[in-house]
Amino acid sequence: MGSRKPLIAGNWKMHGRAADLAEIGALAETIGAAGSKIDVLICPPAAFVQSAAWQNRAGPILIGAQDCSPNAADAARTGEISAAMFADAGARYVIVGHSERRQIHGETDVLVRQKAGAAIEAGLTPIVCVGETQAERSAGRVAEIVSSQVRGSVPGQGAFVVAYEPVWAIGGSSTPTLAEIAEVHALIRETLAAQFGGQANDMRILYGGSVNPKNASEIFAVDGVDGALVGRASLKAADFSAIILGHPAAA
Ligand code: 13P
Repeated sequence: MGSRKPLIAGNWKMHGRAADLAEIGALAETIGAAGSKIDVLICPPAAFVQSAAWQNRAGPILIGAQDCSPNAADAARTGEISAAMFADAGARYVIVGHSERRQIHGETDVLVRQKAGAAIEAGLTPIVCVGETQAERSAGRVAEIVSSQVRGSVPGQGAFVVAYEPVWAIGGSSTPTLAEIAEVHALIRETLAAQFGGQANDMRILYGGSVNPKNASEIFAVDGVDGALVGRASLKAADFSAIILGHPAAA
């Protein structure tokens, strides 16, 4: 794992209400000292980012956003929220290029890279998501798809995180085998090394897609996995804390 501090991130997607922010306080209490050894992040819906950040300002839970505008400067963009606004609201990270945005909103690698660049400019750390569909996996195209998404979506400079989220593993119950996860994480690191050289060894690569309290510790033990991006199982403190406490660094 080298010098890479684990990052376990919860993506609430379009779930929750203001009252559910209490789960974050409960999470902080349950994980206790593990919160200093692992970066624990919750990305609530945009409407709640500021209050989540305010409620958790004493730490250890970090707050992030789920998407941001590719525009760095304030502009006439109805409905958009800039990375600078999220930073001002107390966010530290932002997820970009999630498959739900790529698929439902037609986001391209070029747009994802612009969003990641805007995030870095605002002082946020982008979590850049990549991953193949079931059809692409069945066609034997995992390496081609994932490496081209990485090359096309990561920013040219600044600190970022990559999340490998196979589209077919999101929101269901199946995950790739541990060997398959290891293989794709190694491929992503090689792809990053081709562009960034030795710096790639310091870059965190997360696994996401149906991570739950039962499978988390074996996934965390996979070579090259620096943490997880968790959807459903991040909504309740009881589940998410079990995932976090299952990381070897929590011991
Ligand atoms: P699930 O953990 O619900 O499968 O979602 C994964 C995900 O898309 C996180 O960004």
